[in-house]
Amino acid sequence: MAGKFQGKRVLVTGGGTGIGREVAVAFLQQGARVVICGRRHGPLKEAVQSQQPAFPDFHYVECDISDPADVAELRDKVRQLLGGLDVLVNNAGVSERGNIESTTLKVWDRVMNVNLRGTFLVTQAVLPLLKEAGRGANVLNISSNLGRQAEQHQLVYAASKAGLDMFTRCCALDYAEEGIRFNTISPGVIDTPMQDSNKGELGYQEWRSQMEQLHPLRAIGLPKDVAAAALFLCSADADWLTGVNLPVDGGMCAR
Ligand SMILES: NC(=O)c1ccc[n+]([C@@H]2O[C@H](COP(=O)([O-])OP(=O)(O)OC[C@H]3O[C@@H](n4cnc5c(N)ncnc54)[C@H](OP(=O)(O)O)[C@@H]3O)[C@@H](O)[C@H]2O)c1
Repeated sequence: MAGKFQGKRVLVTGGGTGIGREVAVAFLQQGARVVICGRRHGPLKEAVQSQQPAFPDFHYVECDISDPADVAELRDKVRQLLGGLDVLVNNAGVSERGNIESTTLKVWDRVMNVNLRGTFLVTQAVLPLLKEAGRGANVLNISSNLGRQAEQHQLVYAASKAGLDMFTRCCALDYAEEGIRFNTISPGVIDTPMQDSNKGELGYQEWRSQMEQLHPLRAIGLPKDVAAAALFLCSADADWLTGVNLPVDGGMCAR
């Protein structure tokens, strides 16, 4: 049976691990042809190999999204591999803790350069491909509940994710007439490698129970929770949604 994304061409940044990997596999399972990118060869190769031989149209490109030359090469490879693009998922991101005194300029730039500059560069580079695909092409940005809920020692990460939300909404308006949609998902705490340093400090069980208590539904999120929401927002079922920021956060946004 044909999937919801049969033949659709999808790029997922940061698709070698965590949420991005789960999102990429969810698209594949719905019939899409998918390219993932990231800086490290190992996780990308492993992610693609893990889906062989079931999904031969699953590819990876090594790319630092904060580097314009890498991003231009990424766009060219996407065109070569997929022949165009229908969906971009800007998922790659990095997180650093700190307040204004402890956040060095180097850390500030590192986070902003991936979470905002990288998203800007990739979106700008592939926009001509999305325009060629026409109405229904869309972009999904992965933000965070910290983009709307302030928390101590989350200065640069939260500021970058708040910026990402406004980036999405501005693009949504700029391209609405052409029928290219831009939406955001804001996850709560999701069990991925991004949480490894927190798990390391507390031990996995203690980390998990503290994180469960943070969420009204008393559970942490899993990559599949974000993937399910991503499939919806990128599908024709969401054809009339643009500029939306969908929380996937176990009820945190209700507070
Ligand atoms: N886990 C959570 O609790 C949580 C909550 C809210 C939002 N999020 C957001 O969800 C997204 C995915 O994170 P995750 O939780 O799945 O963590 P993750 O496993 O660490 O994924 C982040 C991905 O981004 C890639 N990446 C980082 N810098 C990059 C760069 N300069 N160029 C290209 N790729 C880059 C990483 O690959 P390389 O290192 O190989 O480049 C990695 O695959 C992020 O935007 C994150 O902010 C996560």
